[in-house]
Amino acid sequence: LLSHNFSSTSNNYAVQNISVYGSGLMGAGIVQVAAQYGFKVTMVDLNQEFIDRGKEIINASLKRVAKKQHKDDKAAQNALIEYTWSNIETDIDSVRGAEKADLIVEAIVENLQTKQNLFQQLDKVAKPNAIFASNTSSLPISEIAKATQRQDKFAGLHFFNPVPQMKLVEIIKTSQTSKETYKILNDVIMKMEKAPVICKDTPGFIVNRLLVPYLMESIRLVERGEASMKDVDTAMKLGAGMPMGPFELCDFVGLDTLKSIVDGWRKDGKIDANLVATSKILDDLVESGHLGRKSGKGFHKYV
Ligand code: NAI
Repeated sequence: LLSHNFSSTSNNYAVQNISVYGSGLMGAGIVQVAAQYGFKVTMVDLNQEFIDRGKEIINASLKRVAKKQHKDDKAAQNALIEYTWSNIETDIDSVRGAEKADLIVEAIVENLQTKQNLFQQLDKVAKPNAIFASNTSSLPISEIAKATQRQDKFAGLHFFNPVPQMKLVEIIKTSQTSKETYKILNDVIMKMEKAPVICKDTPGFIVNRLLVPYLMESIRLVERGEASMKDVDTAMKLGAGMPMGPFELCDFVGLDTLKSIVDGWRKDGKIDANLVATSKILDDLVESGHLGRKSGKGFHKYV
């Protein structure tokens, strides 16, 4: 039945059931998109409160997507919403949540030890053929994979926020990830009508590796008094075709997130430290709790 959709895979292994761990901002988005495109999805989190919050995120987003796809057709909107929910189950038992999975996508807290603990546990209970993927933005995939006995079936699957809108998914191949695993993940992403790109397991993968130094240089340019924040935002929007200026983007990403990425990269020394040199403005804003959109103020005000 599935050979039609998965004609490019070389064996019969095809993903039907996906378990997503973490029902936060990213997890909920991944669950929604997978379910929308016909995968049977189990959304797993630590307790019912987190699951309910994830469901609310999906509900709000799904309504927007349905309206956009079927403008004046209320029946078609409802059909899409009902179809998507019919593909979603939830679980607060992490072992049970993995039982059916052909693919496990992890989108829990950004902490190496916590991710390793989860995958170590799942490795013992998941199907032997199940593929494991992490949505981490900043941790090495190979370090997380070491917690398992299936490093050939382990990769990074890096989605972007907001998941239902952002077309790109970076597939991260470690030196152990098999070709077969990569191909299957590529097919899954294509079925979600997203655009996969492939990258080695290096800091920031493609997008953040280029974006973070650009954001930091924008901050330092203003810090050096060479231009105003407002003019830098305008310049990059109108002169470089960016949908958001760098300061708007910093606020969208979260200044604490940006700071923790550059601090981490400086510490592990894998990329040129000048590219991620610290900035006093950034450090001061984070210190005073101005973290961007989510706190109402960052470089810009949002009240
Ligand atoms: P979040 O804080 O919104 O959600 C994390 C969820 O994981 C929470 O609901 C938490 O209860 C749950 N969780 C924690 N431990 C768990 C466990 N052992 N089992 C099941 N659930 C557990 O975080 P967010 O922003 O969704 O990020 C998740 C991951 O995605 C992180 O690794 C992050 O680096 C990555 N990421 C984040 C992006 C962003 O823009 N926020 C973009 C791309 C990747």
